[in-house]
Amino acid sequence: MRETQAIIERIRRVADGVQQIDLAVDAALAQLEPGQSLFAAPFVPPDQITWEPYLRAQWIPVDILPGRVVVEVETRHIGGLYNPGDVVSLLSPVGRPIPLRGKIYHMLLIAEDMLPTPFVYLARKLIGGGVEVTLVMGGRATKYPLELLPPEVEIIHSETDWKWPDQVDTLTWADQVLILAPVQTNFEAYRRLYDAINQLRHQSIPDHYVAGMYYPRLACGSGACLACMISSKKQLLACTDGPAIDLKRLNF
Ligand code: FES
Repeated sequence: MRETQAIIERIRRVADGVQQIDLAVDAALAQLEPGQSLFAAPFVPPDQITWEPYLRAQWIPVDILPGRVVVEVETRHIGGLYNPGDVVSLLSPVGRPIPLRGKIYHMLLIAEDMLPTPFVYLARKLIGGGVEVTLVMGGRATKYPLELLPPEVEIIHSETDWKWPDQVDTLTWADQVLILAPVQTNFEAYRRLYDAINQLRHQSIPDHYVAGMYYPRLACGSGACLACMISSKKQLLACTDGPAIDLKRLNF
């Protein structure tokens, strides 16, 4: 990771408690891939500039353009109120690019009880490459404004308990599946979906076919503190091995 400074160009409220922030950034940040994020220093009011908080916030890109990165953040995670013109310190990249399996035609994304922000830039890139994308949204994910997603994304609303119409069909035609659920519930949620896919595929799931997305609150963001451990047995950390972890690597 390296530190850069970014200038906040524009801030807009896109949903209740959600902002998109346009950042003018160092050209190197244009290389960020879906899955990689920024670690932003929290806002410090000018009259308190004598102290420097340690914990940073994870900012997830939803679009990357030359010299500009658009991030989407929940205001409860932003660490203060920024204004256009403010300069913010960023460490990047946090995390690895989401591994994609060779040639894929259909990507299935599932967001349950979390806003699908981590899928937006990925969906944009996949659709640009001719991949069909379906997004299953359940619980809190259904609060996400659909106009923030590329219009080509097929949307399916799920019921509680991770059930949605034509579930077997969507799981069968998908060339890859990514699942996103909150840290408090993701172990059970990912295990149940993995078991369902395992049955459909007769106990033979290819590598990287189904990955869980991990977004715990990060402390160091660089693999040093072990606060974001996903599996101690496999030594998997959300900040350096994630956010997408092949569920085949976890022993449910
Ligand atoms: S946040 Fe410190 S090891 Fe991941």
